[in-house]
Amino acid sequence: MTKPVWIKHAAQLATLASDVNGPRSKEAMSELGLIEDGSVWIEDGVVKAIGTTVELEQQYASRVHEAQVVDATGHLVTPGLVDPHTHVVYGGSREREFEMRLKGSTYMEIMNAGGGIHATTRMTREASEEELIEQSTRRLNSFLAHGVTTVEGKSGYGMDLETELKQLRVMKKLQETHPIDLVPTFMGAHAVPPEYKGHEDEFVNIVIKEMLPIVAEEKLAEFNDVFCEKDVYTPEQSERILEAGKRYGLTPKIHADEIEPYGGAELAAKVGAISAEHLLKASEEGIRAMAKSGTIACLLPATALYLREQAAAGRAMIDEGVAVAISTDANPGSSPTTSMPLVMNLACISMRMTPAEALTAATYNAACAINRQDQVGSLEVGKLGDIVLWNVKNYQELQYLFGVNHVQSVWKKGIQVV
Ligand code: NIG
Ligand code: FE
Repeated sequence: MTKPVWIKHAAQLATLASDVNGPRSKEAMSELGLIEDGSVWIEDGVVKAIGTTVELEQQYASRVHEAQVVDATGHLVTPGLVDPHTHVVYGGSREREFEMRLKGSTYMEIMNAGGGIHATTRMTREASEEELIEQSTRRLNSFLAHGVTTVEGKSGYGMDLETELKQLRVMKKLQETHPIDLVPTFMGAHAVPPEYKGHEDEFVNIVIKEMLPIVAEEKLAEFNDVFCEKDVYTPEQSERILEAGKRYGLTPKIHADEIEPYGGAELAAKVGAISAEHLLKASEEGIRAMAKSGTIACLLPATALYLREQAAAGRAMIDEGVAVAISTDANPGSSPTTSMPLVMNLACISMRMTPAEALTAATYNAACAINRQDQVGSLEVGKLGDIVLWNVKNYQELQYLFGVNHVQSVWKKGIQVV
């Protein structure tokens, strides 16, 4: 039996509770459910009570001796951050490509010459399950240290059945061994394997006919993602993959309009994707279509920065009524970071999102993007006791003092993990 946790006297408790259930857009993205001198009682892994310290003192005074009591005077307290888009399980690293890009090569040139995603695919194929578990555990530890308690993870560095399954099975094992909740996505069509260049449809058929059925049968993924991009998969091929996934009960996600405008946002709306990712070059019609279909824009400002590109039009998307989530896109090529706090900073700096919108995008809307809003993303009675105590006094300061890890303590399901 673990002790209950009683956090008291938070200078600011951002509960993220709101009447809006489901992805929040427009003004709802600024509703943080703030409580001054806030307090929360966590027991059996979930939030049992939340309110002001005075309110909880009345309720729990007789049980103080049972609890881990945390004095949060002067501190901001929030739900654990949620990262709804990562490629956390992979072999090796690609620091030489970073250098090559700084010397003038582009991301796509490197990939088309057999590097990039293909390089990581080779290293992931070579790695044993144990090695992948060991490397990914280190990355998940870093997520936790940055206040992230739920992480989505994609396959896609296999691009053959065996390695795709290996990545997904590693995620399943990590789910058992690591405190972070890991939500699995199948991304068999993450790039075109060199041997299928010029006859991509054949590989699309393999993804649909050979990989998807086994992934679904073994219940290894909840979502199905594809890299819809010029020189990768066309909107037509992407649609076939996403529709096939739907028939197997996998919800569509899509890497869309990252490098060129390519109709990815439009396709996301058409197939009813839960989220569309990147969207640096999304068209205005595509953005309007997403607002209408309720597709979440999962924006990745660290990736844009790392590729030295202009970030997505986050401000315009919110003004247009799109619900925005943000994510690290943690991967060895375009965004080797595990820092969601940095991503929140960048959402403000490079996409002109407000500090409140950035926090919603990294918590509640991020949870919606992986269909976990009933469990995480806000602090409400019955939801998981996933909590971060920050070394700042309010949410504005969290976004203002940038590039620094302000995490002081983290609880996952009511157990202190940092
Ligand atoms: O989301 N765009 C495609 N996939 C990843 C990058 C993967 C890699 O470079 O290894 C992304 O940015
Ligand atoms: Fe990605």
